[in-house]
Amino acid sequence: MQHLLSLGDCRPQEVLGLLALAEQVKRDPARYRQTLAGKTLGMIFQKHSTRTRVSFEVGMCQLGGHALFLAEAALQISRGETFDDTARVLGRYVDGIMARVKRHRDLELLCGGGVPVINGLSDQVHPCQVLADLLTLRERFGELEGRVLTYLGAGNNMAHSLLVGCCKVGMQVRVATPPEYPADPAVVRSVVAAGGDVVVTDDPVAAATDADALYTDVWVSMGEESERAQRMERLAPYRVDLGLLGRAKPSAVFMHCLPAHRGEEVTGDVIDHDRSVVFDEAENRLHAQKAVLVHLLGGVDLPSV
Ligand code: CP
Ligand code: NVA
Repeated sequence: MQHLLSLGDCRPQEVLGLLALAEQVKRDPARYRQTLAGKTLGMIFQKHSTRTRVSFEVGMCQLGGHALFLAEAALQISRGETFDDTARVLGRYVDGIMARVKRHRDLELLCGGGVPVINGLSDQVHPCQVLADLLTLRERFGELEGRVLTYLGAGNNMAHSLLVGCCKVGMQVRVATPPEYPADPAVVRSVVAAGGDVVVTDDPVAAATDADALYTDVWVSMGEESERAQRMERLAPYRVDLGLLGRAKPSAVFMHCLPAHRGEEVTGDVIDHDRSVVFDEAENRLHAQKAVLVHLLGGVDLPSV
């Protein structure tokens, strides 16, 4: 692995290896305290962030390195400098680039800088979030093969990443969306072609029945604000409430990448439920990303799985 743009680019062994390394990093953080000493991560943000920014910055600090927060508005990108030129410049200064971008294609351009690039969310996928989610599921369930994760809501970057990432570890992914906001059919096709166990439906109750995990995300992603009213109306049947959670297995967990809009995609009693693992997912961003960083920037091998 040179970059992490999408888990779709990784072999199943690499995803499992990253998860095993994340478990090691979480268990024994002291062992990695100096792994990235003297190294710098440039972090480009074209969109808002709480978790991604803080967990990458704290992660670099805990690994002995340094992180630079580069908001788009303060970069020459906002005045017309290209992503290619920006990458070629940053590649002369930093040891890795993490970027949250509006267009996935710009991550590919950043790879021209000659240093590892990590996707901190694009319009298409959010791989770091799904690594943290898989780590959280492993802590809860152990072996993941054959487990069922149901995503309910808008077909978006989270739906795509979960399809790709969960199928890599042998889970079944059910995606329940209204017909107006489906998951990208090209993503579904590629996951199915790779042997993924996928169910696509517009029926939230059928999708939730006997699942091991119910997952949702905001109905209005960053950049979609003008569609808010229409989305609220069309997505209302997909709200995760106690009734829907009751359809899943008694051991099922509730998951959300956060930020949540309580009362919209999820009710307050579900997000605060004792089977909600949303804050474990948020914590695991830190551990999973430290594994990605020590592997890509520090040359630490993935454990063989
Ligand atoms: N889940 C996630 O990526 O959160 P932020 O938008 O706060 O980074
Ligand atoms: N789908 C959301 C995820 C936020 C972490 C968005 O793109 O805004």
